[in-house]
Amino acid sequence: MEKINLVSGMRSTGKLHLGHYMGVITNWVQLQEEYNCFYFVADWHALTTKYNETENLRQDKLDVVLDWLACGIDPDKSTIYFQSSVLQIAELHILLSMITPNNWVERDPTLKDMVKILKNKDGDTSENMPQLSYGLLGYPVLMSADIMAMNGAVVPVGVDQLAHLEITRDIARRFNNIYKTELFNEPMPKLTQIPLLLGVDGQKMGKSFHNDIKISDDEETTAKKIMQCITDRSRARKDDPGHPDKCEVAYKYYEIFADSETFNQVNCECKAGQRGCADCKRQLGKIINEKFASIRQKRIEYSKDINKVRDIINEGGKKAAAEAEKTMAKVREAVNI
Ligand code: TRP
Ligand code: SF4
Repeated sequence: MEKINLVSGMRSTGKLHLGHYMGVITNWVQLQEEYNCFYFVADWHALTTKYNETENLRQDKLDVVLDWLACGIDPDKSTIYFQSSVLQIAELHILLSMITPNNWVERDPTLKDMVKILKNKDGDTSENMPQLSYGLLGYPVLMSADIMAMNGAVVPVGVDQLAHLEITRDIARRFNNIYKTELFNEPMPKLTQIPLLLGVDGQKMGKSFHNDIKISDDEETTAKKIMQCITDRSRARKDDPGHPDKCEVAYKYYEIFADSETFNQVNCECKAGQRGCADCKRQLGKIINEKFASIRQKRIEYSKDINKVRDIINEGGKKAAAEAEKTMAKVREAVNI
């Protein structure tokens, strides 16, 4: 039986962190067995907010793919590409933009959140504050084109993307109605249960908050960052009994990265005042370094052979373009253009 098409993308934010790994990438790796996966770097989407910060864009795109490959996204199983190398997506985007009512995008709550974040980041007066553009308003329409061009039936996303996906389904239905066709299916979101991974400071983990641990960080950097993790703030001395449930970051990392035996041991020793926070975090750093050792090794090997990585992306781009061209031939006919 032919596998059905699954599509998902990530914006080209540069090197990925452990939150991406736990939340998205492990999930993508598993999905490769069940679906015909199209995984792409959404570099056009990156421009919807960062059109004036492109100096690192090419390196950032490559870094995302390096992380994927190191983590086990397999080019023999999945199609890996840059969004901008599939021009058919742009063509579909423009056609979909013609049939998308203004108010569908204007009321998109995810987009409203993005705008709010943009405004808050630098304050409204900053010169760096990007203009809210026509392109940003079209964010969900471009996402729809990403998915529909590949005939995607399933789209793994986080909960923040559901509103965009709803618009995609509406657009697909509207296209079929207007052009009296059954060309498009309504892609289903596949909600990823994302274990929330906090940054070392206890805020949401994110590159812009400078609280993240990268997949590609070396052991020393990782160990240093882990030492910054917030613990039980009420604990003064290392033989005071600790409160694992009040240990804001370190204990939560144990829960995610350690085996259950170690996790239980930490719990008991902490409560009994038999475990100092510094030692506890040193051990945590080792556990995380062990867990990522082979991934990091693989990443180093890929980065030494960057031409091979470029070949993979070019091949993926060709495959994706071929798939999109099949769709577009039918779309052009349906639209009579
Ligand atoms: N908007 C998504 C995000 O920020 C990335 C994305 C772009 C995407 N196009 C997509 C995800 C198509 C799924 C399908 O996470
Ligand atoms: Fe957290 Fe470990 Fe310190 Fe307990 S000993 S508060 S679990 S860092």
